[in-house]
Amino acid sequence: MQSLNLLGLMAQASGDHRGAVKMFAKAIASDEVNAACYYNAGNSYQALGNRAKASAHFSKALALGMDEKAVTFILQSPIISRYVARIAGKSPLPVTNAELFGTESVIPLANDLFLRCAMEAMTLPSVRLEALLGYARAELLRLAGEQDEDNGEIDNNVVAFACALARQCFINEYVYVQAEAESGLANTLRDRLLQDLASGTAITPLALAVVAAYFPLHTMPMAEALLDRDWPAAVAGLLQVQLREPLEEAGERTAIATLAPIKNSVSLQVMRQYEENPYPRWTINPLNAFAADQARGRTLPTADRQAVLDILIAGCGTGLHAVQIAQVYPNARLLAVDVSLASLAYARRKTRELGLRNIEYAQADILELGTIGRTFDSIESIGVLHHLAEPTAGWRVLVSLLRPGGGMRIGLYSDLARHVIAEARAHIAARGYRATAGDIRRCRQDIIREAEHWKMLIDANDFYSMSGCRDLLFNVMEHRFTIPEIAAFLNDNDLSFLAFEPFDDPTVIEKFHKQFPGAADEANLDQWHRFEADHPETFWGMYVFMVGKNAH
Ligand SMILES: C[S@@+](CC[C@H](N)C(=O)[O-])C[C@H]1O[C@@H](n2cnc3c(N)ncnc32)[C@H](O)[C@@H]1O
Repeated sequence: MQSLNLLGLMAQASGDHRGAVKMFAKAIASDEVNAACYYNAGNSYQALGNRAKASAHFSKALALGMDEKAVTFILQSPIISRYVARIAGKSPLPVTNAELFGTESVIPLANDLFLRCAMEAMTLPSVRLEALLGYARAELLRLAGEQDEDNGEIDNNVVAFACALARQCFINEYVYVQAEAESGLANTLRDRLLQDLASGTAITPLALAVVAAYFPLHTMPMAEALLDRDWPAAVAGLLQVQLREPLEEAGERTAIATLAPIKNSVSLQVMRQYEENPYPRWTINPLNAFAADQARGRTLPTADRQAVLDILIAGCGTGLHAVQIAQVYPNARLLAVDVSLASLAYARRKTRELGLRNIEYAQADILELGTIGRTFDSIESIGVLHHLAEPTAGWRVLVSLLRPGGGMRIGLYSDLARHVIAEARAHIAARGYRATAGDIRRCRQDIIREAEHWKMLIDANDFYSMSGCRDLLFNVMEHRFTIPEIAAFLNDNDLSFLAFEPFDDPTVIEKFHKQFPGAADEANLDQWHRFEADHPETFWGMYVFMVGKNAH
């Protein structure tokens, strides 16, 4: 596969795109889950002017999990780097749309199919790209206003670009900053659209897409009437994500049972946060990544995967975690609970779309799960317990539901690693920012202005969506742990520490072994505590670890 891909790249470099797509097709035939081959093929199809195939290949590459590489590739494009340089050249002052886009408006951007596919697929964690897309949105708003006046025709590509940008804004939950005058124009355009909708007057695809880049369509009165009209394919895709899917989720809510009540006052506040901003709003289908891992022999052996287990996912959020586990253990019976109905509805819709049938979703507070009369072979709770008023009280409830000999996978914030978060939360409190969309946007701009100081935040994916930012910086309740505190809990509750989750950075384990030559023991929490003191960034993501319940 590698040599076929290389031959394709050589043909591409020499301008032979026909030869290149043949080579990439052969490379894909020998490795169907290789994102790079799809991306490379997409570039050659784009050069050949075959837009449909280019988009299909780019979308597949993104679906296979290109992650941060997607942003790197987007920023490498000469057109995009030119715009980014123009913005940087005037920073900290804003550029005008005319200075940035000249007479071409957004047409060169609209021709970048990879950018378009990426905007439809995932959040794009880059301050530079965000600034550019913010300006592009304002430019589209200007175009939509002009079109209104002179009834002019708009290039189909520009409409498709506007739809993709509206999808991006929906995915990041409208986290981009907007100037006051811009908000005023967006309000006017929306009000006009609502009138036209009510009176049955024609609505242009551009106007609809631009409104959807500022406001989620499903929140607008009578929005469902949009579904009765004929639209081009790009608008239909936009309506799917901003209208049909949220409507399906509203239907899912009524099908979710309440298994244990939510009475605790902190649980109620946390519930409200995740009701307003379900997290994470995942868009990339994890089953593709699973298929890729399986093809590379990185999943559990097939026999181990056949186990018939009862698994509890405590604090399942929007279901990504449950879906991943359900895929690993197709014969397992999963119960996935959360306090947030909006999160559970998102989870149920996605689970149904992916065709998984072994997950039962229910609303419950972990603190009350002791009353449900069920026990489990395995319990997973990642990034949840530290949001409880008393994390150890919830953790003890989970231990009581675990069968002897069972395993538990837990994720908790590290106090040492999250110093920057503590500092950011103090900054937020000092400035009086509240967890509203407007304040979160303003707070993000403070952080972006001092990007050097807040590098850890700027580099975090969560910084680039409203729910992510709220989860990262504005959580109503956040506890942070130390390794000795975790060790004490395990000791008091008859649990054995088994291992930390494999680290993304392979040098962590190398460094750990170097620190304790000849005596390193990866199951020794005392050693890990000493290691973390010297490498405080190790658990920036979280402590994620497996423990076992001792069988007596
Ligand atoms: C940061 S999200 C993590 C979601 C999921 N575990 C994941 O890793 O994607 C935290 C989730 O915990 C849920 N949660 C917080 N307190 C809870 C409680 N007392 N009982 C059940 N769920 C809770 C929240 O509603 C939210 O969906």
